[in-house]
Amino acid sequence: MRLRELRVFIVALLVVLFLVFSIIGFQTFGKFAEPIDNVTATAIELAKGNYKVRVPSVLDGTIDQLSTSVNILARNLQDISFVRKIEEERLKTLIENMGSALVMIGREGKITVVNKPFLNQFDFDFDKVDNQPFRNTGLPSEVVEFIDMIFMTEKSARKQIRFEYQQVKHMELYGAPVIGEHGRWLGVVVVMHDVTELVRLEQIRKDFVANVSHELKTPITSIKGFSETLLDGAMEDRQALHDFLQIIHKESERLQFLIQDLLELSKIEQHGFSIELHRTSLREIIDRSMEMVVQKAEEKEMSLVLKMEEDIEFEADTGRMIQIVMNLLANAVNYSLSGTTVTLQAYIENGHAVIKISDEGIGIAQQELPRIFERFYRVDRARSRNSGGTGLGLAIVKHLVEAHNGRIAVHSTVGKGTTFKVSIPLWQSM
Ligand SMILES: Nc1ncnc2c1ncn2[C@@H]1O[C@H](COP(=O)(O)OP(=O)(O)OP(=O)(O)O)[C@@H](O)[C@H]1O
Ligand SMILES: [Mg+2]
Repeated sequence: MRLRELRVFIVALLVVLFLVFSIIGFQTFGKFAEPIDNVTATAIELAKGNYKVRVPSVLDGTIDQLSTSVNILARNLQDISFVRKIEEERLKTLIENMGSALVMIGREGKITVVNKPFLNQFDFDFDKVDNQPFRNTGLPSEVVEFIDMIFMTEKSARKQIRFEYQQVKHMELYGAPVIGEHGRWLGVVVVMHDVTELVRLEQIRKDFVANVSHELKTPITSIKGFSETLLDGAMEDRQALHDFLQIIHKESERLQFLIQDLLELSKIEQHGFSIELHRTSLREIIDRSMEMVVQKAEEKEMSLVLKMEEDIEFEADTGRMIQIVMNLLANAVNYSLSGTTVTLQAYIENGHAVIKISDEGIGIAQQELPRIFERFYRVDRARSRNSGGTGLGLAIVKHLVEAHNGRIAVHSTVGKGTTFKVSIPLWQSM
């Protein structure tokens, strides 16, 4: 019986000891395991890209170093990702606002980066081009060929292309291969500038030179021809001598006018050209301008009518204003049939002095209107050359009106007549 009791006692003791050790064991294990769990959870979050997590601090030396290191790692990663984000943002702003269209194409030929100017240039939707093969996006064939060339040669290149996309456009393309770290070939980047306006200006310049040469050549050829004929003996004939000299005189006068106009225009077009503003009377400007065309109008039996209630005082360059009004009146008389009337109206409108010159002449076709202010542009070359015109008058008028901060507008109906309306601010300081 004692033996049995002893056995029970031992078993009980063993059970108690087991429980005690288990509890102690669990406690000790838990004390070590919990911080390790925390570090593991933090590391998993870091791996997921959440750099804001930190291991909670525990006052236990054993695991402390590991937690601190993981926290430092997390902070460094957070700093790096912050800097990267700023750089990314900066790059994005730069690409969006660089003023030129940009497209980047990956190695497989798919579009990886585009900016807004690119989308606007070709009227593309971002979703329709992003990650799409560049061939399928509907880019003009000239652009596709250029990209192909960069892919093939793996060299940067520059090219100016002309294509029609709703309207004729000129573009300067610059393309380069994109080489990543370790010389890895990543694709192609193409930057495009719209140079349509530049090409247009260049064309105007070329036309100008061609026109000037032509305009100079015509009177010179005729002067040379007639003087040679005279020298060859025609001067013995008094009538021929008189007629030819008259032609020579007329042609040299034309040359003189042309050169005067050219000098005038180049002076007005100079940067820094300024007019002399002073208080002046519109009535005086109109009277003096009319004086200059009245003889021509009488020759054509035309009447000049002025409709102006009272004089208008305003700030302008009197000489230049006379030039404006006189040129418009001369055109009205030149491009009208005999017996018609030219009406000049002057009034104040919205703080502007307005001068309206209307004729009942041949008119100008709608499609010609935007061009008549160009240098040397003449609707009917033969007719306006007969009238002695060079096509510089309206170009000069437009510049002078603009120098007064004014505006010039034109309305016309073929066969019915034309109206030019010039508005000049009454006071420049307004
Ligand atoms: N009132 C008008 N009616 C019809 N056509 C006009 C009128 N004014 C101008 N035009 C057209 O516009 C063109 C340009 O006019 P602009 O005054 O610049 O040149 P121009 O009269 O030919 O020569 P100039 O340099 O001697 O003035 C003219 O050639 C003419 O075809
Ligand atoms: Mg003219």
